[in-house]
Amino acid sequence: MILMDKIVIVGGNRLKGSVQISGSKNAVLPIMAGTLLADGRYHIQNVPMLRDVKTMSRLLQSMGTDVALYEHVLQIETKNCSIFEAPYDLVKTMRASIYVLGPLIGRFGYGKVSLPGGCAWGPRPVNFHIEGLQKLGAHIEIEGGYIVAKAKRLKGARIMLPQPSVGATGNLLLAAVLSKGSTLIENAAQEPEIASLSDFLNKMGAHIGGIGTSSLEIEGVDTLNPTDMSVIPDRIEAGTFLIAAHLTGGDVKVEEINARHLTALLKHLRKSGASIEVVNHAVRIQSDGQIKPVNVTTDVYPGFPTDMQAQWMVLMSLAKGSSVITEKIFFDRFTHVSELQRLGADITLDHNKAVVWGVDHLCGAPVMSTDLRASASLILAGLVAAGRTDISRVYHIDRGYEHIEEKLKPLGAEIWRDQEPLII
Ligand code: EPZ
Repeated sequence: MILMDKIVIVGGNRLKGSVQISGSKNAVLPIMAGTLLADGRYHIQNVPMLRDVKTMSRLLQSMGTDVALYEHVLQIETKNCSIFEAPYDLVKTMRASIYVLGPLIGRFGYGKVSLPGGCAWGPRPVNFHIEGLQKLGAHIEIEGGYIVAKAKRLKGARIMLPQPSVGATGNLLLAAVLSKGSTLIENAAQEPEIASLSDFLNKMGAHIGGIGTSSLEIEGVDTLNPTDMSVIPDRIEAGTFLIAAHLTGGDVKVEEINARHLTALLKHLRKSGASIEVVNHAVRIQSDGQIKPVNVTTDVYPGFPTDMQAQWMVLMSLAKGSSVITEKIFFDRFTHVSELQRLGADITLDHNKAVVWGVDHLCGAPVMSTDLRASASLILAGLVAAGRTDISRVYHIDRGYEHIEEKLKPLGAEIWRDQEPLII
């Protein structure tokens, strides 16, 4: 019999105390891919212990690099990298695997990476990545579900992204830094994770300007060198804990974060009745549990993050009134709605809008995770639902949250990890 992890929560406890936020999943993954750009040893600190980091480590190892992850530190040695492919069985579990394509084509002139396929909430195209690499001179074929990219040496170009895609911006940066001449990426993503990748590449000897803006200028260089790096804090993990505190009427200090990366969320939390105090590298949130309804529309950074949409929906499901949540980035990112409805949330969907009618309380029940942030929303709902909530398939949550139940327990949550037979 195959046993699967589940998380069990008995709701109703107010969260109080301090919690340390881990390094950012979405910052460390492109940095790990960036180590392919130069032979040598890399020392990366404040690495979150996540499934996705392990998946990216396995991918780099399959290409011949040595990767050791111990106590939040990654040691990567790339001198033996000799296989320039990313197989489907790894890419299908983690879309961010596509970040290796940029360094492969940019440094080795060849890369074969599986198309990532879709995810729980629909297709996840990579046309912006492919079109941008072609602008840089890569010859790209799609063969048997794989992207096969070839180039003598990439040449700088002007690339206008149709949408400020985080992944495409990161991949094109990773490709352009070793190209010949200068590249301009316009309508680039401004997420902190992209700024952090740019900082890492500049530490390696790249010449990237316009960091943090929507216009990135890259002056190609002939070689880069290995370097060390500390991963920025995970703003989405931080936001998830802030919402947990407000939901439960708690008083929590979320530490080791950069509040500047959370301005949109903090503004909405204040509007919904929480009191927020920013103190150095920490944010203290206090709440009496009275939640005001606040409409939200997800947007690219610095707007309200799509990765906080599911968590915000849980908060609004207990607000005193109704609110509208509009998803502008991934129009069908609502797989969490049906599970939240099982817990008593009153939500109606209309295309990419969810109307949430606040209810007095949620009731615990068995629910199933479908994707990373949806499972985070189920954890939040379980914290505040009356009775017991069993959340199955928690491998989804382990992709992006480091031992989430171990971080919630000291705050007063009645939560534990258990196992259940896998029923196919
Ligand atoms: C990154 O995904 C994040 N993942 C996602 O976080 C996050 O939700 C997303 O950015 C938006 O912020 C990582 O960083 C590993 P996009 P990414 O390219 O790069 C469309 C999480 O929970 N698009 O910015 O895949 C796309 O369909 C994950 O940590 C194309 O059409 O997102 C979407 O509508 C989930 N063609 C929009 O652009 C392309 O070639 C933004 O996607 C690429 C994207």
